[in-house]
Amino acid sequence: MKIFKNKNKLQKEINDIKNISFIPTMGGLHKGHISIIKKSKRFKGKILVSIFVNPKQFNNKKDFKTYPRNTNKDLRILKKLKVNYVYIPNFKDIYLFKPKKNIFKNKFFKILCGRYRRGHFEGVLNVVNRLLEIIKPKYLFLGEKDMQQLFLIRKHILKRNIKTRVISCKTVREKNGVACSTRNQNLNANQFNIASKVYHFFKIHKTYIINKKTNFNKKKFEKSILSIGVSSVDYIEVYNPKFLKKPKNFKEDFKIFFAYYLGKIRLIDNI
Ligand code: PAJ
Repeated sequence: MKIFKNKNKLQKEINDIKNISFIPTMGGLHKGHISIIKKSKRFKGKILVSIFVNPKQFNNKKDFKTYPRNTNKDLRILKKLKVNYVYIPNFKDIYLFKPKKNIFKNKFFKILCGRYRRGHFEGVLNVVNRLLEIIKPKYLFLGEKDMQQLFLIRKHILKRNIKTRVISCKTVREKNGVACSTRNQNLNANQFNIASKVYHFFKIHKTYIINKKTNFNKKKFEKSILSIGVSSVDYIEVYNPKFLKKPKNFKEDFKIFFAYYLGKIRLIDNI
């Protein structure tokens, strides 16, 4: 496994490699990241993982500061998985050049997390656009846990005519149902338990909606999860995951998207 901190050195190494599978991360690796890397192995090419806690996508300085970081542990995990390349840039390496393409913004930036985290997706697209320009991967692997991020990156790649294929990866969950997330490391046992109850609440209510036993009622759902112990709710919404449009009826494919706080920790998921 070769580790690069400098994009020029990285580019020299990978310049002639045409089949790179790229997995961008912010480190704090967990089972979700690991399953993506394992999936990328099926695509035969060389595997490149980046670790960069991108300050531009944090709308809250404290959240950036407390974001869990453990590069040594991450490197041990990546080595065990036999990843070929790891790119760990600093801020300047990523941001002190002018990318050829600008980011493609559209109306989907304004909904869900875009509404509650100002500038978040601009920050995500900014860094991903730069990483794609540096690495020029054949495949880009992204998790469905961050469905809106996946959707916006797909649109950007399509619109900007970037020759990279996006591969989406299923959400990996802990035994208690909570979606694996780097931020889970900051939860205490009680909060982790509440997160599990929230997961089960939405899981069961999705089947109730499908079976017409209940309506989708966000105010009622919000009240219920607040009574479970959630501190506050950013949103609870239903969308067709393919088009990020409201479903016309519940026979259509739909997911419940939700974002909420446990203390100061913000969690998102879709079921
Ligand atoms: P990060 O949160 O580290 O996630 C890296 C990748 O892992 C993303 O594609 C994310 O959707 C995926 N992922 C996270 N949790 C997952 C889970 N439980 N199951 C499956 N996949 C999961 O997302 C980011 O970093 C950043 O925004 C990034 C794209 C790297 C840009 O900075």
